[in-house]
Amino acid sequence: MTQVQLKQIAKSYSGTIALSECDLSIQSGELVALLGPSGCGKTTTLRMIAGLETPTSGQILFDGKEVSDVAVQSRNVGLVFQRYALFPHMTVEKNIAFGLKVRGQTAAQITEAVDEMLDVVQLRAFRDRFPAQLSGGQMQRVAIARTLITEPDVLMMDEPLANLDTKLRGEMRRFIRQLQRRLGITTIFVTHDQVEAMELADRVAVMADGKILQFDPPDILYQRPNTPAVAEFMGATNLFAATLKRDGLAESALGTLHYDPAAAAIEGQGHILLRAEAFDLHLTPPVDSENTFTAKILTREYFGAATRYTLLCNDVQLTVQEHSRRRIDEGTLAYLTIKPEHIWVLQQS
Ligand SMILES: Nc1ncnc2c1ncn2[C@@H]1O[C@H](COP(=O)(O)OP(=O)(O)O)[C@@H](O)[C@H]1O
Ligand SMILES: [Mg+2]
Repeated sequence: MTQVQLKQIAKSYSGTIALSECDLSIQSGELVALLGPSGCGKTTTLRMIAGLETPTSGQILFDGKEVSDVAVQSRNVGLVFQRYALFPHMTVEKNIAFGLKVRGQTAAQITEAVDEMLDVVQLRAFRDRFPAQLSGGQMQRVAIARTLITEPDVLMMDEPLANLDTKLRGEMRRFIRQLQRRLGITTIFVTHDQVEAMELADRVAVMADGKILQFDPPDILYQRPNTPAVAEFMGATNLFAATLKRDGLAESALGTLHYDPAAAAIEGQGHILLRAEAFDLHLTPPVDSENTFTAKILTREYFGAATRYTLLCNDVQLTVQEHSRRRIDEGTLAYLTIKPEHIWVLQQS
């Protein structure tokens, strides 16, 4: 298992900055996702860690040792790409065996390792098939097996599930998560899909414009984003500019809200984040509740497990989501409450 550290890593392509000085410290055995929109520098970061690209400045360390002079072949990293890049004229077995064959291992060693890998990726019954006879998910499993068989210290995956349909993506995420847990291999997973990053990773680095905005576990990113940009990327719905006072009062277009001042000692201009699922929706006026607002239901969307409403409250549009079998019609007057501890306040970015 290998610890990976980036220290002030930057990359420019003839004057254009692809990555500004970034620090990132990945623990041994950790699964880290690099999450951000297209062009934010995710692939560039991976390619520098792999040794396929030279940083303009900064250092990359594996287990505390600088690797800038270590060639790609000697870094012992495994790469899996969005396009499977399997050899079409080779069977599953031959594709998986390829990396060991070029390393000059004996036929017996290769057969044993391939058997083991076919079990790991659950493709034993498919060993004699050609790539064209496999589904997208199966092809991606072959690509993963072909990488893992070389026993890399660091596994890197660049949007590996982008070509798969929604259901298969979910399955493959769980497969990758379980596999990574079992093997304990340090893994860096690149994606632009916030849900995918949250579901897979121990920690997520949210990136934009060549910078890492926040590096935290998924629940912290979701509940406590450090800037409005991170909040928006993590799918925030109700984010408002607010004047924050030290005693836990926030003045916003919605009105005055009480938040827990212990959670964030911020004063002055900032934002409040009110998660759609943090509200309680009432049809009669609630008694003794802080942060109560009257609101009119504008729209209703039913998702089976949850219902999402948009409401108009003091000329501000709010999104509220609840897990309930009840159905509140559009046009109904309702009362919203939110507990002070469910409000997150953010500094101006
Ligand atoms: N070989 C290259 N030459 C010039 N510019 C590049 C090259 N590779 C990437 N870039 C630029 O660097 C930025 C980051 O790219 P990339 O790392 O591929 O982003 P991502 O993987 O997040 O979509 C983009 O603006 C891209 O155009
Ligand atoms: Mg990319």
